[in-house]
Amino acid sequence: MAFPKNFMWGGATSAAQIEGAYLVDGKKESTADLMTIGQEKVGRKIGYYPNEFYPSHTAIDFYHHYQEDIKLFSEMGFKAYRFSMAWSRIYPNGDDQTVNKAGLEFYDKIVNLCLKYKIEPIVTIQHFDTPIGLKKYHFWLGRQTVTYYLKFAKTLFQHFKGRVKYWLTFNEINNMSTMPWNAGGLPLNASEEDKMIAAYHQLLASAKAVTLAHEIDKHNLVGMMYNGHFSYPASCKPSDVWGNQQFQAKMLFYADVQVRGYYPRYKLRELERLKIKLPVVAGDLESLKAGTVDFISLSYYLTHVCGEKTKGIVKGLNGLETGYQNKYLVKSTWGWPIDPLGLRIGLNQLYDRYQLPLMIVENGLGAVDKIEDGLINDDYRIDYMQKHLQALEAAIERDGVEVWGYMSWGPIDLISASTGEIKKRYGFIYVDVDDQGQGTYKRFKKKSFSWYKKVIATNGASLRDNFREKGY
Ligand code: BG6
Repeated sequence: MAFPKNFMWGGATSAAQIEGAYLVDGKKESTADLMTIGQEKVGRKIGYYPNEFYPSHTAIDFYHHYQEDIKLFSEMGFKAYRFSMAWSRIYPNGDDQTVNKAGLEFYDKIVNLCLKYKIEPIVTIQHFDTPIGLKKYHFWLGRQTVTYYLKFAKTLFQHFKGRVKYWLTFNEINNMSTMPWNAGGLPLNASEEDKMIAAYHQLLASAKAVTLAHEIDKHNLVGMMYNGHFSYPASCKPSDVWGNQQFQAKMLFYADVQVRGYYPRYKLRELERLKIKLPVVAGDLESLKAGTVDFISLSYYLTHVCGEKTKGIVKGLNGLETGYQNKYLVKSTWGWPIDPLGLRIGLNQLYDRYQLPLMIVENGLGAVDKIEDGLINDDYRIDYMQKHLQALEAAIERDGVEVWGYMSWGPIDLISASTGEIKKRYGFIYVDVDDQGQGTYKRFKKKSFSWYKKVIATNGASLRDNFREKGY
């Protein structure tokens, strides 16, 4: 059997992409609440545009539907559910003296329900949603944000002690280099210096949070969350191979710090060349060293092609595509190259480099789903996931990579983080709401629902079946 007996099958979401209720029960705005449809695409300044509709403000209203949704996850057989706790629900301004009890109570209900269904909660502490109240410290550019993040993290570790064991400090921490607004409240065109300072603060905050989590409960396991930006060289021309390697280094340095506890030499040299001075104060280097992560979690959607000309810089729509097209791959409706084997390659690369257990905490297909005769036949999603899971199985079985779990993104339709819309659907569960917030908010099972249920029930054995012939 390829998948280990206790393999954690499940799904993943983030607070700002599902909850809605964005100003309910004391919550205040976060950076995620200022994203409207296509904001990055048109490249305009992020801010509040009063005449526009913000799908994330209502999202799929998980805030009021969580019971039904978690029940559906349980029906699919989830062993684990990864979600984030919105900082601005718990400390609405980010730097409040006292905790907002209503915020904690909401997550009490989520965690308790998961435990009731024997679903392991995996909590992301920050998923693209820095409280707007921290603007006065320039979000992650200011050291004060580290202090307040740690206060928030400490509250979570203490409050959920014994109930939550798996924690992820920052979602896709390497996104500071590609999507700085989502990652840390920096403008999309932030300078390299600002991005590196904000990244330093997050790396420091993460390390200190790991130490804190271990001090509060020795059973806590804390992971980093890496955006799996794996890539191929544009050709075998040495300068293309070098360009690709530079891109990899730009991404992997974040993991190097979180896994090894120090900045790698190539990064230090680059910072020196760019005359970027990190705001290191006494004790910081020791904190980085002490707070290395227990495991690596990652998201995986696509691969890049990098070379001499891209100089390691990610460009294009949503900051996700580099300058070269991969003629061997087909793309999703949103232009993301589909590459199941890339997952196996990436898992091997990460495991060889770090020898830490891995956990896939995001993978899925964003697509337009159509209801026909009351049904959603999302064979394209089943096909995507089947192939990615087969690649994962090969990495585990044939290559010996240690992988703890697989969380699909998102098991229920949610708001896109990069384009702010719901039309880009990922779920096994359809939510009847459109990009203008119109709809009944009713939940429907797509065809992929029973497909995934069977994958989990058979611990992956059904991946070897011919799923089309079996007619799920
Ligand atoms: C990851 C993020 O980068 O990709 C998620 O962690 C996001 O928050 C997911 O939703 C898919 O991207 P998008 O832009 O399709 O929502």
